[in-house]
Amino acid sequence: MTIMSIEGFLREIGEFLREDQIVTDREYLSHFAYDATERQYMPQTALLPENAEEVSRIMRCSNDHDVPVTPQGGRTGLSGGALPVEGGAVMSFTRLNRIIEIDEENMFATVEPGVISNDLQIELARKGLFFPPDPSSTVDSTLGGNVAENAGYTRAVKYGVTRDYVRGLEAVLPGGEAITLGGKTVKNVAGYDLISLLVGSEGTLAVITKMIFRLLPRPRVRRTIIAYLDDLVSAADLIVAVFRSGIIPCAMELMDNIAINTVADHLGAPLARDAAALVLIEIDGQSEGETHREALEIAALCRGSGGVTYTALATDDAEAERFWMFRREVLPSLKALKKDHIEADVVVPRYSLPFLVKFIRGLEHSDAIKIATYGHAGDGNLHVTILHRRRNFAELDEAYRLLEVIYRETVNMGGSLTGEHGVGLTVMDYLPLQMRGETIPLMKRVKAAFDPKGLLNPGKIFR
Ligand code: LAC
Ligand code: ZN
Repeated sequence: MTIMSIEGFLREIGEFLREDQIVTDREYLSHFAYDATERQYMPQTALLPENAEEVSRIMRCSNDHDVPVTPQGGRTGLSGGALPVEGGAVMSFTRLNRIIEIDEENMFATVEPGVISNDLQIELARKGLFFPPDPSSTVDSTLGGNVAENAGYTRAVKYGVTRDYVRGLEAVLPGGEAITLGGKTVKNVAGYDLISLLVGSEGTLAVITKMIFRLLPRPRVRRTIIAYLDDLVSAADLIVAVFRSGIIPCAMELMDNIAINTVADHLGAPLARDAAALVLIEIDGQSEGETHREALEIAALCRGSGGVTYTALATDDAEAERFWMFRREVLPSLKALKKDHIEADVVVPRYSLPFLVKFIRGLEHSDAIKIATYGHAGDGNLHVTILHRRRNFAELDEAYRLLEVIYRETVNMGGSLTGEHGVGLTVMDYLPLQMRGETIPLMKRVKAAFDPKGLLNPGKIFR
């Protein structure tokens, strides 16, 4: 790409976007250069479209002037999916942020991609409706970003991931053509399932401009149980026992000893510092009596399970909230340590997760490195944070060596290198460990069918 092309691009963009929709000032522009990874890439411009027609015209200009475009939501991504690695234009959805309709009769919500996830949650709660996908980053992340990444969250174990709720999409192809897929129907098997393909495509195939979500009735009752265990293998047995009980928990989370201690330090809270694992279980339902009875049954099951040293059922919402804060504060507590970190987001068959944690705990490494693991035990999704100092080359090398060992073990266990954060930039170089033969070449042919010139969010998923 040449300087000439960006100038011609901007001149043409200036014919239909107002000045306040085009960012070129370097200081303002720097806000579009980062996300929740530790990487930064400066774009040459950031564009703030306000409707689908403007998105379409921007994509036509991109195509005419060979300028890459990177769609961007709340910049909470942990794999670098919204970073403009090849420069060009960031397309930010800040101003495409309307909740268009909440259809209470059919139980569907129609929204634009820039809506902050939590804003939809608040609106739906008022109407007794429920959109289960609710990532930890909910107050900052956008629904478009959640769809692009097929975001997971703590309740995925019972309710499924973001993809399971997307029934309709409007999108713009890299050449500027608009497409409409699906709608407000629960079922739909007409042709290839392009909705499922676009959801989780990390903004590399098309630019989503409107989304239609299936909704559920809001569960009226929740009960939260906390348990501590003195060894990890027992956690695997506990997970199995819970699922065999016939009660599907809406969340089952795990934190290892390092995560427990980091949160205890950060919050100054009395967590059991000697425990090998903390397990958090949540039960939800519509009936107070039944949900409570189920929670008592799960709590009793925890008490009777090997290796469990302590179990408590939250007595009220405030206590449940306190238990949840331990889990939610893991990543912020790790960040507060002010070290560099590498995040992994591996997923293995559910029963294997505690064994993977045990494998990671058993890895030999220098004292300068610290590895914390925590995540969604109910669905086998484990977050691994490798703390190091990247200015120290020996530590940096060691951290990446450990990452690769963890990735290889994940694949050995029949798992996947990312469960919910996406490949983006951070997992890209490791993908061949997991995908052999024709899989990656086939994915590249899909990319080329949507984006022959490779201008939409280039430099992601595969080299
Ligand atoms: C979480 C994010 C990091 O589970 O996925 O907290
Ligand atoms: Zn997570």
